[in-house]
Amino acid sequence: MATNSYQHIDVRPIAGACGAEIHGVDVNNLSDAVFAEIRAAWNEHLVIFFRKQSLDDEQLKAFGQRFAPLFRHPNFVPQDDQPEIVRVYTGPEDQRIVGEDWHADTTCMPEPPSAAVLYAVEVPPTGGDTLFANQYLAYETLSDSLRGVLDGMQSFHSDIRVAGPRAKARLSGRTSVSRYDDEWQATEAMHPVVRTHPETGRRGLFVNASYTQYFENMTEDESKPLLQFLESHATRPEMTCRFRWEKGSVAVWDNRCVMHIAMHDYKGHWRKMHRVQMVGDRPV
Ligand code: SIN
Repeated sequence: MATNSYQHIDVRPIAGACGAEIHGVDVNNLSDAVFAEIRAAWNEHLVIFFRKQSLDDEQLKAFGQRFAPLFRHPNFVPQDDQPEIVRVYTGPEDQRIVGEDWHADTTCMPEPPSAAVLYAVEVPPTGGDTLFANQYLAYETLSDSLRGVLDGMQSFHSDIRVAGPRAKARLSGRTSVSRYDDEWQATEAMHPVVRTHPETGRRGLFVNASYTQYFENMTEDESKPLLQFLESHATRPEMTCRFRWEKGSVAVWDNRCVMHIAMHDYKGHWRKMHRVQMVGDRPV
């Protein structure tokens, strides 16, 4: 569906590469016809945003479940009786934050989440934006030759950089705590470097700095230069959009075709977000 052909929603792209604000809806009250258009807009723009929403925990979970069943994160320690909700909180003194490197979420899983909904509860006066990068565009703007090489490759993903004893955030202040305990075991999976989206049929890059360790049948040292090139290419400014949060804003990103990064440029302030993720399928 093209941006100008929606009947029930007002879709306003925020950048050339990806991202659109959707106006004229209350996400707590969506008919099937309205949700079908939201899903079409999501497939078209990859990450969609709503403003001035009000979501308690049950409403956040219900909205997420419109996209797919809820996913339970393997590494966040639940702070309350809502294990499917991750409280992405940054305190005024925090040195590290959730999502501080470009990544797709939880790609260490054999079936990584398909999507996430992030809801802003408290935002700093300035800063704390989130950037998103279109991984279809990243793939499509590579040379034919490199695309041909990548099409046949697999890469190994693990969560050892984000949880467990080797995690960067383990020894420094971070309000949202991951599992660093002795019983923690790494979650690992091999995925295609280029995946085909199950809904749109489009191909996109599927490697990221937080989880991808190396290419199949190559060492980490051999893999590093190509991984670094792909990361810098895939996050060039023209692949991205940047979202300025307000209290009550909601983002829904497609984890199969976008990467994202959170800005930590609001020292001295709180930022409080509630996130649910939705299950996905095995990348092909
Ligand atoms: C995340 O990586 O899911 C967190 C994004 C954000 O807090 O903006």
